[in-house]
Amino acid sequence: MTDAVGCPPPWDRIELIEGDITQFGGDAIVNAANSSLLGGGGVDGAIHRAAGPRLVAECRTLGGCPCGEARITAAYDLPSKYVIHTVGPVYRDGHSGEPESLDACHTRSLELAVENDIRTLAIPAISCGVYGYPLAEAARIALGTTADFLRRCNEIDRVVFVLFDVRTHATFEAVRDELVQTG
Ligand code: APR
Repeated sequence: MTDAVGCPPPWDRIELIEGDITQFGGDAIVNAANSSLLGGGGVDGAIHRAAGPRLVAECRTLGGCPCGEARITAAYDLPSKYVIHTVGPVYRDGHSGEPESLDACHTRSLELAVENDIRTLAIPAISCGVYGYPLAEAARIALGTTADFLRRCNEIDRVVFVLFDVRTHATFEAVRDELVQTG
């Protein structure tokens, strides 16, 4: 990705909303999957339920996905065109590689978006549910990594963080305000 001249400021292209990511009608949604890619609970379960059985059938052909990596499939019965499946880290103590893996989830998902001409995508709070990542720490990585990526990329118009509850939404907003302040 070469540095783009006249790249719109990253914070103008990052939105935070409270909602259900399966309703997102943009180009792609990101799924917080597990390494089997064969579905689960949380947002993974919601996405597979909404997409229908053809999603897991395509996922079966991918042979899984390591933590910190991402894979792309069609979205089938979902309103978006693609699903980018990424596997976040299970939180242990914050010093076992979790920050680096969570950073990689966002970077790899955004790289896959650019490779597939995806201009609008929605991302959930990866690892903030079953995988137990503390919200504020996860938000700092998710938003900081995404803003850094958009600073050098003008091929993505909009990244919408779709947060499932008030507390997650409020935490992401507070961290975003902090990051915008510190530049
Ligand atoms: N839309 C948006 N966000 C959602 C939705 C939804 N429909 N459903 C749940 N979430 C939120 C959760 O509230 C949480 O903030 O997604 C965030 C991530 O939580 P999980 O879905 O539990 O994902 P994660 O913590 O990354 O754990 C992944 O859980 O579901 C299994 O198969 C999955 O094993 C994997 C693990």
